Amino acid sequence: MDAGTGRARVQAALNEAVARFRVGIASDPQRLYAVLADLAPPTSNDDRLALRLVVEAAGSGVVAELVQAGGALPGVAQGLATRCQVTVPDAAWAVGAWCRALGIGTDVATGSPPVGAHSGLVPDVGVVRPPLADAAGSGRAALLIAVSVAVVLVLLAAGLVWWLLRAGDDTSVADGGAGAPTTEEEAGGSSSGTSRPEDPVLARGLDVYQETCAACHGQRGRGGVGSNLQDVESRLSEEEHIEVVTQGRSSMPAFEGVLTPEEIDAVVRYEREEL
Ligand code: HEC
Repeated sequence: MDAGTGRARVQAALNEAVARFRVGIASDPQRLYAVLADLAPPTSNDDRLALRLVVEAAGSGVVAELVQAGGALPGVAQGLATRCQVTVPDAAWAVGAWCRALGIGTDVATGSPPVGAHSGLVPDVGVVRPPLADAAGSGRAALLIAVSVAVVLVLLAAGLVWWLLRAGDDTSVADGGAGAPTTEEEAGGSSSGTSRPEDPVLARGLDVYQETCAACHGQRGRGGVGSNLQDVESRLSEEEHIEVVTQGRSSMPAFEGVLTPEEIDAVVRYEREEL
């Protein structure tokens, strides 16, 4: 088998590889070598050299240069020859082989069809696998989507946990106010749970308090929007107390006309005696 035939086979294999995988194959020298060796199994040293040079040209960026410049620039073969320690004619052949395979440049001496024409035929037959760049790209996209979905799920779960915890806190705040919640107070969330005063006036006061005052002063009078009313009897005389509730004071609303005087008396008594 003479050198010429060997190189022609390598050239044909390169044409085929570029037709199948596009120029992207040049960015994966290992795969390029595998594809070429598969299409044209080397049978001589010259075959092996030809293969190596073609692959080396891809790996060392010569192909990228060719594509960019639209042809072989002066000195390209020289550079490749120096890098691979081969003769300039051998290197020039490899550069020429790429030019022919890519259908660029003027070196078409062997008459092998430029790939521009060739590749037009191939998509039906040859494009079994997507070009490398695309495969890697879609892999990355899939990974990105998977990661995004995971992040969203984690955020949702965290949000749910936070919401549940907060809901739990709210209940204890509403029930317990500023003080440490006791079992009595936890039960006291519903008014029926608290011991209901025997005295009918105090019982009435409890109802008025729950309906009208608790929203601001808390279920147990420990304060909230309104002030803490426990020990209110030590700060206000009964008269002053009734006056605050009847007339209001700054953001404490007046209940004159809203509650009857009896209801005000009842709730005042309740606050002084029961809270
Ligand atoms: C909209 C909220 C709100 C409601 C409803 C409310 N209060 Fe008040 N209350 C306050 C605020 C705020 C203060 C403190 C006013 C101030 O700074 O002078 C206050 C103060 C008081 C005080 C004086 C406490 C002190 O130590 O001087 C009493 C007594 C009182 N409220 C009783 C009641 C009663 C009884 C009811 C139900 C009939 C009631 N409040 C309903 C907001 C409210």
